[in-house]
Amino acid sequence: MTQTHPTDPLQAVTHPNPYPYYAALRHRAPLVRDEASNLWVATSAQTVNRVLGDERLTVRPASEPVPRAIAGQPAGEVFARLARMNEGDNHRLARQALVNGLGSVDMRAVFQSASGRAATLIRSFDAGGAALLDALAFALPVRIVAELLGLPADDALEATVRRFVACLSPASSTEALSEAHGAALRLQSALHALTLDGIAASPLIERIVAGGLARSADLPNALVSNLLGLFSQTFDATAGLIGNSVVTLVQYRDVAAQLRAGRIDIHAFVHEVARFDPAVHNTRRFVRDTVEIEGVRLEPGDAVLVVLAAASRDDDAYENADCFIADRQRAPLPGFGAGRHACPGEAIAKAIAAGVVSALLRSGYDHANPALSWTYRPSLNARIPSFNFFDRSPS
Ligand code: HEM
Repeated sequence: MTQTHPTDPLQAVTHPNPYPYYAALRHRAPLVRDEASNLWVATSAQTVNRVLGDERLTVRPASEPVPRAIAGQPAGEVFARLARMNEGDNHRLARQALVNGLGSVDMRAVFQSASGRAATLIRSFDAGGAALLDALAFALPVRIVAELLGLPADDALEATVRRFVACLSPASSTEALSEAHGAALRLQSALHALTLDGIAASPLIERIVAGGLARSADLPNALVSNLLGLFSQTFDATAGLIGNSVVTLVQYRDVAAQLRAGRIDIHAFVHEVARFDPAVHNTRRFVRDTVEIEGVRLEPGDAVLVVLAAASRDDDAYENADCFIADRQRAPLPGFGAGRHACPGEAIAKAIAAGVVSALLRSGYDHANPALSWTYRPSLNARIPSFNFFDRSPS
């Protein structure tokens, strides 16, 4: 079957192979105008870094710091305090605290916990089908973050996180948004209980507090909102990294065989997956003050789609950028952002994904199974495979 090319950079995120389209955009101009979406589009590694490094371009539009659909409601109150969604002092303070906390996490322990939990899940799903891959991608990372924070790592928590995350998607229905507010309240209350004076918090929370996000008896507050934010930052993106690692095992059987034989390091493999087929394909920046980038004048109110996944395949930044080279020297990963908002959870996400993949390989998981296929979950920025197994048994 012939594949059509994506027609715009938002549709590209969930296209089976968007990379030739991204290359065509990169070769057209450093900043391309996409009239349909009313966005400027940045695709080369250099332009992406320039846009992300410029303080005149901000993470939220000045006219709408919190999406209208959730402003003034519980999920909106959390959103308004997230490092990810702020600039200036509010961002700096929260970021510094999160970097202090996340940087202190023992990545070997995260890897081992992910690998152990994955092995247990693999044993409990005897059919090893799509439900197993779903649980490994979505349920498992939430549980690791819960464990780090000191919350019970159970199904109820995962369901609540899933509901909260819906508030971040502009495509969510009114019903999903109302469930997201309930979830925001429940998660805040559980996290608040861990941060009260006199309670022995987990080492991660202690480090975040020591990094500058203060405990507070009031809710909402910046500490609790940013702890909650760790779940939403983890949820879709880490599911994408795990899913895209499975896709890579299927598409590159030689790499899978070398991994099994111990000739490729599992951490190097996951790092290269995060470059070659990143989980987060794009992010956005909004022009606060007039700025000229790559000879293009951007005016207040303009918005830029920063295509991290196109920068990941830029030939000027990587030798043989379109080849999956598992033992490539550890290259920078645009898929985790750059500049002042770059992801402070990169090492944790990669350790979780490496733990899951190593457990799958150890279990003899049959990624070469011809019944396995996938499409991508609907999203404007995250590339997350949704797996299917065709039942080939005679009916
Ligand atoms: C594969 C998994 C992940 C990917 C691809 C990813 C990607 C990203 C990207 C691209 C950004 C920057 C967005 C922008 O500048 O517009 C970001 C920010 C952030 N990420 Fe991640 N992330 C992942 C997992 C995680 C995890 C596991 C955590 C924490 C446990 C985390 C915490 C954060 C936080 C707190 C920010 C905001 C930083 C700031 O604004 O200063 N991420 N992430």
